[in-house]
Amino acid sequence: MKSLNQWLCSAAALSVVAGAAHAAPSSIKTQPFGSVDGKQVQLYTLTNSHGLTVKITNYGGIVTSVLAPDRKGKLGEVVLGFDDVDGYVNDPNGTYFGALIGRYANRIAKGAFTLDGKTYHIAINNPPNTLHGGKKGFDKKVWSAQPFKTGAGVGVKLAYVSADGEENYPGKVTLNVAYTLANDGSLKITYRAVTTKDTVVNFTNHTYFNLNGAGNGTILNHLVTLNANRFTPIDPTSIPTGVLQPVAGTPFDFRRPHAIGERINKTDTQLKNGSGYDHNFVVNGRGMRMSARVYSPTTGRVLEEYTTEPGVQLYTGNFLNGKNIGHDGKAYPRRSGFCLEAQHFPDTPNQPKFPTAELKPGQVYHQTTIYKFSAR
Ligand code: GLA
Repeated sequence: MKSLNQWLCSAAALSVVAGAAHAAPSSIKTQPFGSVDGKQVQLYTLTNSHGLTVKITNYGGIVTSVLAPDRKGKLGEVVLGFDDVDGYVNDPNGTYFGALIGRYANRIAKGAFTLDGKTYHIAINNPPNTLHGGKKGFDKKVWSAQPFKTGAGVGVKLAYVSADGEENYPGKVTLNVAYTLANDGSLKITYRAVTTKDTVVNFTNHTYFNLNGAGNGTILNHLVTLNANRFTPIDPTSIPTGVLQPVAGTPFDFRRPHAIGERINKTDTQLKNGSGYDHNFVVNGRGMRMSARVYSPTTGRVLEEYTTEPGVQLYTGNFLNGKNIGHDGKAYPRRSGFCLEAQHFPDTPNQPKFPTAELKPGQVYHQTTIYKFSAR
């Protein structure tokens, strides 16, 4: 007869063996992904010890793919994207799939702002406003890249130097971004930036997720929880009015879980102005905290987002139209992906009451945002 202690010891030993059988070492693979502007670009495949796989290219710092487990442990594609770089370069819809966005994420009203008494004009690429950096934002640049492996996980370090005057923004900005995939299912994105002259910056990641599987219909059944008591309502051109409006009593109240589709077609001026959800939420609290949780009742997949940023743009893929054919030859119809863009508020350079987006020489910009994948 075994004593209780012996049983516990052998059970512990068994579970360690079982764990070892499941776990494989995390890895990084580098392969060619095509060429842009005459430069070869790479695809970095990061895999953690549980098989969660994230693919990133140094064209635009794009997250091209995430293979995440469902509640049965089956891996599936949860990110909208393409299998080669030409898909991104030739994207007919300006989707910004998976990309790092800069120098200023989201909109600047009428493409103009005044800094230190001087007015700057940026290309109006989303009339009547500037969107996501201008004509050729950071999402369309080839970044330098270096894969790495540390105790924290596997990753790739990216860097982009934006020249003084690029897209008419002042100051040379050096941006370093590191993507790190850890064994707990988290993909951490850290940003660090410096400038040579006073300027404005806003960086984000524009990944579209579908926890039912990319190309498997809409995201309308996904349950969203947002850590936000307020949001920034917009005018009909998607520029914030400047008000921080309580979400209570509106279709923007996600303080408890609601399906994206539950209220999206309601008669509501804000939903009309955004063609659905395309709004900045004011994340409660400061420092690193949870900003969002999304759950697919179909697959059990959960995506949590944590960020140090003051805001998060919930965008429900309202401008997707089925014309993008992505992974596995699947089309991406309207509302078949959602984004949670951690950010400073849209149009901050023209909104004195919003948390400042100015960066001055000698200051260092920092952001950390985590997308964490699990299933239940
Ligand atoms: C952001 C904007 C949207 C849309 C997408 C890209 O989320 O707020 O209005 O432009 O980017 O299609």
